[in-house]
Amino acid sequence: MKKLIVANWKSNKTVEEARVWLEAFNQTSGHDQLTVAIAPSWPLLPVVAENAAGGRAVLAVQDLSPFPAGSYTGAVSARNLEGWPVKYAIVGHSERRRYFHETVQDIARKVEQAVTARITPIVCVDEGYIAEQAAAIEPELLTHCLVAHEHAATIGTGHGESLSVVKHMVAEVKHAFGEVPVLYGGSVDAFNVNEYLLIADGVLVGTASLEVAAFTQLLAATQQLEPA
Ligand code: PGA
Repeated sequence: MKKLIVANWKSNKTVEEARVWLEAFNQTSGHDQLTVAIAPSWPLLPVVAENAAGGRAVLAVQDLSPFPAGSYTGAVSARNLEGWPVKYAIVGHSERRRYFHETVQDIARKVEQAVTARITPIVCVDEGYIAEQAAAIEPELLTHCLVAHEHAATIGTGHGESLSVVKHMVAEVKHAFGEVPVLYGGSVDAFNVNEYLLIADGVLVGTASLEVAAFTQLLAATQQLEPA
């Protein structure tokens, strides 16, 4: 698999700001050895889908309803996304667990909804519940997942996880989930991305994806990596 770089915009950006970001992004040169995914908030999905249509980036979502289509006010179901080229769904981000009190069972249901809709779930985990999260997911669905290890205390701080801890976590994730691709997230930027990509199959990028200059600088930095 090509290295996967996921831009997680979280609850940032207006439609106009997203458009400006994408126009600048589309003017930069492509990166053949990478898959770039952009995860905007729901209202920005159309502008990202339209402007990334040139194939420079694929579409991801930051969450998904644990329920199918039906009477679940406020939730966005996999069915709602039909017709949009959504490739990945981040599920169980630590901010969802912290501020929205999501449980490992909720996240397991989201995985099921995503896989049924042929969307690849990116299951976020942190030390302490990796095995518990894997155990909550139907065993036959585990190999459909990508798993992102993100230590909550490193997110948005400018201080990423040490490489030795990331190595250890990648092994722990594979022990619990099987041979799945493992991503790293937590203060990834242009200066540390290559170190993480030597260990992980990709990275989740929050802060350094918000300014297009910082994000394209990060992508450019990966050019020094040997092709997979
Ligand atoms: P950060 O966010 O890059 O700002 O640390 C990463 C994430 O939350 O996915």
